[in-house]
Amino acid sequence: MPLGVRRIALATLATITVALTFSAVALAGNDGFLPGEAHSPNAHRIHDAYIFVAIFTGAIFLIVEGALILFVVKYRRGKRPRTAEGPQIHGATKLEIVWTVIPVLILAAIGTFVFYKLPGIADAPNASAADSTTITIEGHQFYWLFRYPNGAVSIDEMVAPADEVVHERVVGMDYDVNHSWWVPDFGPKYDAIPGRVNKTWFKAPAGDYVARCAELCGIQHALMDGVVHVVPRAQYDAFIAKRQQNASGRQLGQEEWTGVCMKCHRLDHAYIGPALGGNPLLGQRTGIQTLLRNGQGQMPAVGHTWSNAQIDALISYTKQFAKTGG
Ligand code: CUA
Repeated sequence: MPLGVRRIALATLATITVALTFSAVALAGNDGFLPGEAHSPNAHRIHDAYIFVAIFTGAIFLIVEGALILFVVKYRRGKRPRTAEGPQIHGATKLEIVWTVIPVLILAAIGTFVFYKLPGIADAPNASAADSTTITIEGHQFYWLFRYPNGAVSIDEMVAPADEVVHERVVGMDYDVNHSWWVPDFGPKYDAIPGRVNKTWFKAPAGDYVARCAELCGIQHALMDGVVHVVPRAQYDAFIAKRQQNASGRQLGQEEWTGVCMKCHRLDHAYIGPALGGNPLLGQRTGIQTLLRNGQGQMPAVGHTWSNAQIDALISYTKQFAKTGG
């Protein structure tokens, strides 16, 4: 293939590749370019900051890539000999001032905008005690544990009141690794760091929102997800009251089994850990309590912070598997 033809073929191929890449992003719409839909005031502010920064970075990308392609074509070697030297240019004061001042102005604009938006992201709006609630979120390998103001507990599925400020205390356990609590529709990501209490908040309309662990925390990190059920206040009150009364009930036991045990175990075959079916420990309070509170071998102390009622809840659910082979 002659050199000229090969060059045209390569250029065409490169153009098609770039066009296809961009069309995929464009087709993906909101899921491709923008973060997910914002459902909390702080998420809206993060969204605004994202778009503001994206305008500059997008423009810079187009200008730089455009100039690159233009120069590649315009100043290509063509028929000049390989050894020919280009014009020798030394300094261009005006140009240098321009390319220094413009980035400074851009950074100042971005900095000002972000600092203007930041307080509304970090600080919860004022709300009366009746119109706000605080939920503590514990990150564990590999599940989320939610503690409600009345002592009620749930695993991997948080229930929260709609249209009011929900304060979140994100905590890590000192025997565990770091996790990161992230509900994309609510905006901020907050790390669950041992020894620290990270505070964030949201105020969202009723709906179900996906939560993720956003920090690589071990072999089952990918399974460390959850749901936030935002429901009317009365439904939320009823949920936590029922949980409190039924602190060792089967409902919580099932959540613990699915959210905690099943992340690493199966009944009938070895998975990350050994098979559990028929294990007499499943019906034995002392044995299971020691294992959950202290861990063993590869198994972390998944139940270190559990109350006795929480351990009873698990046993009330798992005793059915103690005898059968699953
Ligand atoms: Cu916890 Cu990733």
